[in-house]
Amino acid sequence: DLPTRVRIHEVGARDGLQNEKATVPTEVKAEFIHRLADAGLTTIEATSFVHPKWVPQLADAEQLFPLVSDLPVALPVLVPNERGLDRSLALGARRVAVFASATESFAKANLNRTVDEALAMFEPVMARAKAESVHVRGYLSMCFGDPWEGAVPIPQVVKVCRALLDMGCDELSLGDTIGVATPGHVVALLAALDEAGVPPTALGVHFHDTYGQALANTLAALQQGVTTVDASAGGLGGCPYAKSATGNLATEDLVWMLRGLGIDTGIDLGRLVATSTWMAAHLGRPSPSRTVRALSHE
Ligand code: HMG
Ligand code: MG
Repeated sequence: DLPTRVRIHEVGARDGLQNEKATVPTEVKAEFIHRLADAGLTTIEATSFVHPKWVPQLADAEQLFPLVSDLPVALPVLVPNERGLDRSLALGARRVAVFASATESFAKANLNRTVDEALAMFEPVMARAKAESVHVRGYLSMCFGDPWEGAVPIPQVVKVCRALLDMGCDELSLGDTIGVATPGHVVALLAALDEAGVPPTALGVHFHDTYGQALANTLAALQQGVTTVDASAGGLGGCPYAKSATGNLATEDLVWMLRGLGIDTGIDLGRLVATSTWMAAHLGRPSPSRTVRALSHE
């Protein structure tokens, strides 16, 4: 059975742009987010309040956020620690996301912490966010495979998911950071999570398309009852601390599939394609999304 409604969590402005070699000007990012909202996206991850040396592409978070914060959409931002939370709350952010790792190697590479140290770093973030009624998403990276450790055992993933939920995350997003998942693995992980008391309704899925499996993995997750899907306009994306990662599932490819399945998203595909084509021109290379290519040649 498929859901009748799917919530798309757009990550192009954050996951997409954090991985660009060139830093995109703040005004271009702001226009990108405005155009995404105009195309009908209702949850648009805006930026990250991380250390500017770790992700220089998003070092303009203080300048960018006020340029988009009046939009009538949800604008989650990434915060790794209390310093990040302070910065985001000072600008009026109402939704934040912490980001954990299922593997020690990536926790170290991405957060300079062990898995447990990272969870401990999130505890005070969570407590303060709760006190201020700020919504907290918990990302979990490397849920399927890790560039240093190989295949990631399902119980290891379940354990960190449980820890994030027990800490108070309002939702989780299962990250296939390097895009190695396949549909059978997705079904097995969702089943194990369900058995551990983490139902598909508490989960979003976050697939990168390195091996061309993102759309197939998404369909598998929808069939298991997941209704939140992360995607990036035009398929922008990657992760600067995981070498083999490429772009996320393209939002256009997702919308095309959902439309064919009769699942309404309220998104104007024409506007979205025009936005991704415009951004691709800024970045100086074509979008990897098949749907963007097909529709922009019409
Ligand atoms: P650290 O070097 O251990 O930092 O980095 P620290 O805690 O030791 O602090 C050192 C200095 O940094 C201090 O300044 C802090 O104030 C400052 P000093 O006292 O020395 O002058 N500092 C900050 N400044 C601004 N904003 C902050 C901040 N925090 C500390 N928030 C840290 C630890 C977590 C900061 C660092 O590792 C970091 O910023 N990492 C972020 C990495 C990142 O953003 N990765 C990409 C996002 S995750 C992703 O893409 C995966 C995802 O898409 C899902 C998937 O695909 O799997 C979500
Ligand atoms: Mg990602």
